[in-house]
Amino acid sequence: MPTVYLETYGCQMNVADSELMLGKLAAAGYSHTEDPAGADVILVNTCAVRDNAEQRVLGRLGELKGHMGPNTVLGVTGCMAQRLGPRLMDAESRVSLVVGPDAYRSLPELIEGARRGERTTATDFDLEEHYDDFQARRFEGVKAWIPVQRGCDYRCTYCIVPYTRGAERSRALDDVVRETREVVEQGLTEVVLLGQTVNSWNDGTRDFGELLRAVGAVDGIKRVRFTSPHPNDFTDSVIAAMAEVPEVCEHVHLPVQSGSDAMLKRMLRRYGRAEYLECVERMRAAIPGLSVTTDIIVGFPGETDADAEETLSLAREVGFDDAFTFKFSPREGTPATRMPPELTVASEDVDRRYTELVTVVRSIARSRNFQRLGERREVLVEKVARRGGDLQARSRDFRTVMVPAESASIGDYLFVELTGTTGFTFTGTPVAQRAALPVAG
Ligand code: SAH
Ligand code: SF4
Ligand code: F3S
Repeated sequence: MPTVYLETYGCQMNVADSELMLGKLAAAGYSHTEDPAGADVILVNTCAVRDNAEQRVLGRLGELKGHMGPNTVLGVTGCMAQRLGPRLMDAESRVSLVVGPDAYRSLPELIEGARRGERTTATDFDLEEHYDDFQARRFEGVKAWIPVQRGCDYRCTYCIVPYTRGAERSRALDDVVRETREVVEQGLTEVVLLGQTVNSWNDGTRDFGELLRAVGAVDGIKRVRFTSPHPNDFTDSVIAAMAEVPEVCEHVHLPVQSGSDAMLKRMLRRYGRAEYLECVERMRAAIPGLSVTTDIIVGFPGETDADAEETLSLAREVGFDDAFTFKFSPREGTPATRMPPELTVASEDVDRRYTELVTVVRSIARSRNFQRLGERREVLVEKVARRGGDLQARSRDFRTVMVPAESASIGDYLFVELTGTTGFTFTGTPVAQRAALPVAG
């Protein structure tokens, strides 16, 4: 059997796509290998969202060449493949296959062609494609990534995703429910529904709230999460479903990007600071113990110290449980690159604001975590921790909790008291399930 090695960069959608690709290739007679050396096919599933993501991939392609024999096929898939197309083959002579996110159906034939010496680019969008008949080869032992929507119809001015993923399309509710049933049969109890603006999912008659209700109703499913929602798509109906479906976890990852109205407007986020705060408030009122995490960009064109200050004040006002912070990276072809050059923020200002933001965000997260000591949580054991031999588990409100190895196995649920914290992760001491169970506060 020919072997395929695959490496994944970028967001969970790419992880899900990698699982679909490996499933498709397994059906076509390829066996998966975790070692690039000696693999017949090497695929790199890439991300284009920031320049450093692309630089990492280009560096990695150089390294992977070292593992290749004369007949090894090297293919690039994902968002960089879509963005750069044949330019990737010019940049790296050993690349013989460039396949965008909507063209994975033809991957086996494309690889066959490449093994015969052809060099092919396949980057057409296919607005019907959801890979519904693929059997994903899943790597996570306890949770399943389930794409429910592809593409994006927002046009945030900094963002490459609409160009690399095409127009937004929602997958049929029945297919999402069927896949949820299948993963439960395979022993997984948590699903993460994926889409670029996942809560805008709709099938013409039903909205994302109804999708949450349908997935939560699948027999045996214990936890339902989703990422990433857009603030504008949190209708009352979606929030009500989150509140009412017991399987939907008390966590929302709600990218804000900036706390300044001027920046939000220039980013074309389609909400202002007040609307974002109001959205968080509506959700917190409906869902006790909700934890809120976010994404923030610093150094977007025209950002002043005062704008950056507004982001810090918004972070304090919301009290984010965690935040991913990014320095603005200009992406070719996006509207942000056509803004007047005098709006470009000096790199020393970006660096300073970034350091300040990270400091503030961390200190908020720390103090929120210290406040939680002594509380109890149900945790799902996900994997063996990287250090110390403990098990790494996760609470419904998305906190990482280390539990003693002897207390459980991967895939188990157990109740713990949060007895220690580094400020970022917790140690949990198992307690009897009958004990009083305060929900997250
Ligand atoms: N679809 C998701 C986010 C996709 S990209 C959403 O809309 O919420 C993930 C994050 O990368 C974004 O939330 C944003 O914070 C960051 N990002 C996107 N483009 C970027 C760019 N050009 N420079 C820096 N950060 C960027
Ligand atoms: Fe990018 Fe905005 Fe779409 Fe998110 S909503 S993928 S940030 S364009
Ligand atoms: Fe990156 Fe594409 Fe995801 S650009 S963040 S892999 S949608």
